[in-house]
Amino acid sequence: MLSSFETIMRKVLRQPLTTTYLRHLWKGKCCPVQQNSQLALCCHQRRSITLSSCSRTDQASSQEVTKSPVTPLLKQLQARIKFTGPLTVHEYMKEVLINPIAGYYSAGEDMFGTQGDYITSPEVSQLFGELVGVWVVNEWYKLGAPKPLQLVELGPGRGTLMQDVLRVLKKLGLSGEDVCIRFVEVSEELSGKQQERLCGSITSDNDECKDELFYKHSNTYSGSPIFWHRHLSTIPKAFSVFLAHEFFDVLPIHKMRKNEDGWREVLIDMDEGNGPHHLRYVLSREPTPATKIFIQPDETRTEVEVSPEAAVLCKELATRIEEDGGFALIMDYGHDGKISNTFRGFKSHTLHDPLSEPGTADLTADVDFAYLKEHVQDKLVTYGPVTQSSFLINMGIELRLASLLKNCKPEERKSLISGFKMLTEPKQMGERFKFLGLFPAVVKEYLIKHPPGGFCRYID
Ligand SMILES: C[S@@+](CC[C@H](N)C(=O)[O-])C[C@H]1O[C@@H](n2cnc3c(N)ncnc32)[C@H](O)[C@@H]1O
Repeated sequence: MLSSFETIMRKVLRQPLTTTYLRHLWKGKCCPVQQNSQLALCCHQRRSITLSSCSRTDQASSQEVTKSPVTPLLKQLQARIKFTGPLTVHEYMKEVLINPIAGYYSAGEDMFGTQGDYITSPEVSQLFGELVGVWVVNEWYKLGAPKPLQLVELGPGRGTLMQDVLRVLKKLGLSGEDVCIRFVEVSEELSGKQQERLCGSITSDNDECKDELFYKHSNTYSGSPIFWHRHLSTIPKAFSVFLAHEFFDVLPIHKMRKNEDGWREVLIDMDEGNGPHHLRYVLSREPTPATKIFIQPDETRTEVEVSPEAAVLCKELATRIEEDGGFALIMDYGHDGKISNTFRGFKSHTLHDPLSEPGTADLTADVDFAYLKEHVQDKLVTYGPVTQSSFLINMGIELRLASLLKNCKPEERKSLISGFKMLTEPKQMGERFKFLGLFPAVVKEYLIKHPPGGFCRYID
């Protein structure tokens, strides 16, 4: 049995991986150096640009403009607006991202990496997922190591983070029935990619799941059962570790703006004029349910974005962690409730107007960590948000890099170093990304003595 965090770190961080493993890893997963360094700038741009005004397309120009191309989803949205009136940004974002037929995440395209629309930290380097894996084992061990370890990931993308986490777990003796993985993934197309990566095969039709709470199941390479769920509410109640990387930022938001008449909601209407797209932003004439519910009396901003789903999900996480035990790590770009106007689109590593060609680009908004914390604070102890750079450095990323560099091939050096820089440098992903830890209030006193790794410095 592992005795302490240090034992874990020594085992995981100081032992080089085998050459066979490295060969497989660098061939199959990481982007070549050049691609990585090219992406650095794009990633930085993606995270830091805020839109100056979402109404910039409101004024029709007198010149003839060619409108952006029509997509199948645009036609559906136009029909809906015709019958029911302008959509809230919340309704629009939800349709664009997860409409089962034409939504961005349902399209079956691979949106990750250099060929796709954006790159995420787990895709940048193995260092990221490995340190998250060490963190999971350490905190699980501290809380009594209940087996099986139910590991839940929200929005797992290509399954890369879980792949790296599982490799660490296996190295520490945790595999097979000792671990049970549950993915919350709305996109069946992506679930196929995740299954291929973690299990080696794809099951297209899982008839046996039709009366179940999950829509697919399989076994990972390390012999652990894995299940795919559409929603957190269907995950069996048990001690669980929840991971969410770049998940909260894709949950739909309401956008509200204050004008001389008070708070109004930003809506999306047809643009039959000379605007560049077939859709345009308008402001509601009157306050809406969202402006009445979500704007606090002491609000000082004049533009606010709120994701009710994020709040509901956090409340559910809090209830589960309080009642069944466990903890969570939320990793995303975001702020502490002070900024606004972050709704944006991303396509081919560049900013994309959210109203242009709906369904073909990712839509995202910065996560309001203060808002998330507000919804869990009665039940949980929270740590952070701290910056990605500080979390990874506290977890010993420099040690792990040094260990990998000692054993890598000369041509792998550059890629390892550029991945490390991209994850940790403030101007790349180091500062924009934040880590928030959630723990049961019942272990508060214990955590004062033994704070969670990553949120304080363990390794010097
Ligand atoms: C931005 S990607 C992040 C992927 C991965 N975590 C990473 O960092 O590489 C968002 C993920 O969440 C999934 N997703 C989006 N909206 C969802 C929803 N409402 N419920 C469940 N999964 C969702 C997408 O299919 C995708 O897997």
